[in-house]
Amino acid sequence: MVVLAALNVLFLFSACFAAESESQEGSCPTQTANNNVNNITVAAPAGPKGDAGPPGPRGDRGEKGATGRPGKLGPRGPEGQKGGKGDSGQTVTQGAEGSGGGAVYIRWGRTACNESTDTVTVYSGLAGGALWSEKGGGSDYQCLPADPEWGRFTDGVEGLKAYMHGAEYQLNTDAPYDEATVDDREVPCAACYCLSRRAQLMIPARKTCPEGWTREYGGYLMTGYHDQAGRNEFVCVDGEPEVLSGGEGNDNGALFYPVEARCGSLPCPPYVEGRELTCVVCTI
Ligand SMILES: *[C@@H]1O[C@H](CO)[C@@H](O)[C@H](O)[C@H]1NC(C)=O
Ligand SMILES: *[C@@H]1O[C@H](CO)[C@@H](O)[C@H](O)[C@H]1NC(C)=O
Repeated sequence: MVVLAALNVLFLFSACFAAESESQEGSCPTQTANNNVNNITVAAPAGPKGDAGPPGPRGDRGEKGATGRPGKLGPRGPEGQKGGKGDSGQTVTQGAEGSGGGAVYIRWGRTACNESTDTVTVYSGLAGGALWSEKGGGSDYQCLPADPEWGRFTDGVEGLKAYMHGAEYQLNTDAPYDEATVDDREVPCAACYCLSRRAQLMIPARKTCPEGWTREYGGYLMTGYHDQAGRNEFVCVDGEPEVLSGGEGNDNGALFYPVEARCGSLPCPPYVEGRELTCVVCTI
């Protein structure tokens, strides 16, 4: 290589010498270049590789990389401990307003409902029903209003009809009411309505209502005599019955008798043979 470089210099020199003779100035090295012809450095073979230099200065901090992809779902952890019992909720009072609510019942033996239980008297009337001795007709007692209204009618008991009679208490031996003031007297009734409660229930053989229910009234269970042809429903007659004035006579009609328990298919105890049954009317 060194030899080639020397030859090359010689060649340049001879080319320029020829060019000068043809007056082509500027295309050849100057006098300095001619001096360099003799300034030939003979290079020695490459020395051994030097030691590694000291580490360079720390580079600038690179730009922030892009957000990586989310990792895979980890394994399911152990089941946690059961939480503590929460606080008890607030008790809310039942609202008085409601669509389709309200309980309705007949209070037998009284002329008015008990307004202290938030119950209003829809109307006051008198008990009626089919005649005690007749097999047919209606079997349930009616609370007849004191001011009847009429439709199309023909006065006179005629043709094939059913009959409506007034009703009397029928008390004798061991009655649960005061026989002297109540027996054979006409039975009042009242239609009762409590807007703040939605259902009513008559419970025979009970004087108290289930928890949460309101006692509307209570007394004794009554119905028709067991050996009469007429059939009647069981109703709850007030424990402190009123009588309708002017009804002192024994007119009969539909009748109300106290009811005694009879053992057999009725279990005794808890029932007792021959004992008069109580009753209570409850609403909720
Ligand atoms: C030879 O060349 C070197 C480097 O270019 C220079 O320093 C030196 O002075 C030159 N010697 C002669 C005799 O021209
Ligand atoms: C009316 O109801 C209240 C509350 O239950 C009772 O104390 C009161 O004796 C009742 N009055 C009548 C006439 O039933």
